[in-house]
Amino acid sequence: MVKKFGDTVVLNGLNFTVDKGERVTLIGPSGSGKTTILRLLMTLEHLTDGYIYVDGDPLTHELRNGKRVERKAKDVANVRRRIGMVFQQFNLFPNMNVLENITEAPVHVLGRSKAEAERRGRELLEQVGLGDRADAHPMQLSGGQQQRVAIARALAMDPEILLLDEVTSALDPELVGEVLGVLREVARNTDITMLIVTHEMQFARDVSNRVLMFDQGRIIEEAAPDVMFSDPKEERTQAFLQAVL
Ligand SMILES: Nc1ncnc2c1ncn2[C@@H]1O[C@H](COP(=O)(O)OP(=O)(O)O)[C@@H](O)[C@H]1O
Ligand SMILES: [Mg+2]
Repeated sequence: MVKKFGDTVVLNGLNFTVDKGERVTLIGPSGSGKTTILRLLMTLEHLTDGYIYVDGDPLTHELRNGKRVERKAKDVANVRRRIGMVFQQFNLFPNMNVLENITEAPVHVLGRSKAEAERRGRELLEQVGLGDRADAHPMQLSGGQQQRVAIARALAMDPEILLLDEVTSALDPELVGEVLGVLREVARNTDITMLIVTHEMQFARDVSNRVLMFDQGRIIEEAAPDVMFSDPKEERTQAFLQAVL
């Protein structure tokens, strides 16, 4: 795939595949394109050229009669809803309480009944340790709690793929553990495919099957986490890991 912002080429001919159920961590210096990749998958950015496939289904563009054509909005939405994302800045709806944040999309996008969405929402709140905060508003919660609500909100859509973009980077250090704990549980108890951008290398080591090192929009090294973190081959990977570890 190719992604340009105006004349700036951010991704140029990037090509990679993630297997169903795999947990892949994306590392690399700031500006190397990690967020752009996740936002392209989430259709929050327009793909300049190339294709993204979700389990064989083209996401935003498809090759038809030798031509690259944009897919219909409805078709894009159908593929896109199989993907969920959690952002660094939580992005909860500030005017809705916790339970409403979680039930909004299942009701309005998936067409679930309010009762069913609320039942599932409360179950997910229990799972993220916030069973007693359903009526709270985001502003009344700590950053760690807000991020756990955001995780529950993503899971409420039953995603096949979960994208995590530095989900602990905006948190005070003492709140990082509770969020990573919830994500470890998700990794342990589900078979959701996960693409993880994180600087929490121990977490990446424990949860992921594979680590991709990005530099300037390209994958410069790819390895299992124990190899990547203890014996990286590329000088740029060594320098990057030395700086963050
Ligand atoms: N909306 C945008 N407009 C212009 N340039 C952007 C935009 N978003 C990202 N970029 C540029 O794309 C490159 C990759 O950014 P990003 O994907 O955020 O990297 P990372 O997440 O690895 O730090 C950077 O050079 C950044 O400045
Ligand atoms: Mg980023």
